[in-house]
Amino acid sequence: MFVSDCLQVNGQGHLTIGGVDSVALAQQYGTPLYVMDEGQIRENCRKYRQSFEKYYQGHGIAAYASKAFCCKAICNIMKEEQMGLDVVSGGELYTAMSVGFPADRIYFHGNNKTPQELLEALDYGVGHIVVDNLAELELLNQLACSQKKQASIQLRIKPGVDAHTHSFIRTGQIDSKFGFALETGEALAAVKEALALPNIELKGLHCHIGSQIFEIAPFEHTARIMLDFLAEIRTQTGAELKELNLGGGFGIQYLPSEHPAGYDSYMEKVSQVVKESCAENNFPMPFITLEPGRSIVGSAGITLYTVGAVKVIPNIRTYVSVDGGMGDNPRYALYQSRYHALVANKAAEPASMQVTIAGKCCESGDLIGEGIPVQPVQTGDILAVLSTGAYNYSMASNYNRIPRPAVVMVKDGASRIVVQRETFEQITQNDLL
Ligand code: LLP
Repeated sequence: MFVSDCLQVNGQGHLTIGGVDSVALAQQYGTPLYVMDEGQIRENCRKYRQSFEKYYQGHGIAAYASKAFCCKAICNIMKEEQMGLDVVSGGELYTAMSVGFPADRIYFHGNNKTPQELLEALDYGVGHIVVDNLAELELLNQLACSQKKQASIQLRIKPGVDAHTHSFIRTGQIDSKFGFALETGEALAAVKEALALPNIELKGLHCHIGSQIFEIAPFEHTARIMLDFLAEIRTQTGAELKELNLGGGFGIQYLPSEHPAGYDSYMEKVSQVVKESCAENNFPMPFITLEPGRSIVGSAGITLYTVGAVKVIPNIRTYVSVDGGMGDNPRYALYQSRYHALVANKAAEPASMQVTIAGKCCESGDLIGEGIPVQPVQTGDILAVLSTGAYNYSMASNYNRIPRPAVVMVKDGASRIVVQRETFEQITQNDLL
């Protein structure tokens, strides 16, 4: 019935998350409210760590992609869980630095990093700056030279793999704004240039083929292409690069009808390809990095709303309006992403209605979803939208000057705020007359 292990129904028929009554959370903290199960997040980190032990003998690391959900608390959890961290902007890097995240485990991405961002990364000693293009490579070399430093980098490669996912979140194919193309020779030229630059230390390669990918085959295909390219680099330049970053993108369950493969089978199959390709090419096993975002936090989060108006349009549809919407979850508006929802205070009842969940923004497209089966819903009910832990808070906006919700974490039956609810004062604090 539920799409996440951390959700249950208690004796009162209320939805619980991490063992905590979601209706009580809504009363205590107000709505809309993001709730994340810290236990589940830590468990997901452990699963990745264990898989790295099992399939790569510990010669690798999972770097949590903080774009999925970034705040100080999550960076701190990742630090405690011995994870790496993928950041993609000065803001994400700043958040990581604010909790003293170990620099050698940070991967700094972005297709258009500013000189300021690169200087901050050099200053903090970021262990892996993932260089996207030649202009950035040259700029980084100059900046590192001016700071009398060596910049440790990976090069972002477009492996030419077209994974089946929404076109906006697909990145591995040649027509992508990210990285150097393999087919055109651009990638090899970039490798040669990086090897020649005095203040650049080329440690390895990176690729990322997209997000919310269910099939394992595109990942296997990508791993083979990247290993073959590492071997080609050695043939062409003599350099035997030591790191291979295979990116993120592992899909999660949003709907009861979806069944993604478990991480373990993904890790097993991809590691087999990595090992086989290394053996075939007589190439030493590189240090492997993965960058999971959604699969760490996505299913661990829900959003709680209070139901306002319920508008039945006979023979057409029923709109259930909630006190949030595209401001806290723009994913339906952006990608037609589908969600499962429940009436949290009636979670044990059968879902006998089909509704459109609408937000409160002044925009018809402000929907959380259409045709969603839910329990009989009335004004005043608490509606829970499931699997909102990834790319919800991190993509939230203040459209219509609606404050962003608070984020609460639950663990061992207790709850705490990790991001406070925004206030009108904060929304207007940068306004000048
Ligand atoms: N590494 C790189 C370089 C990435 O660009 C991404 C995601 C990840 C790792 C993490 O991917 P994940 O494991 O979370 O799939 N806003 C979209 C998703 C955009 C993903 C961007 N890059 C959404 O809401 O579906």
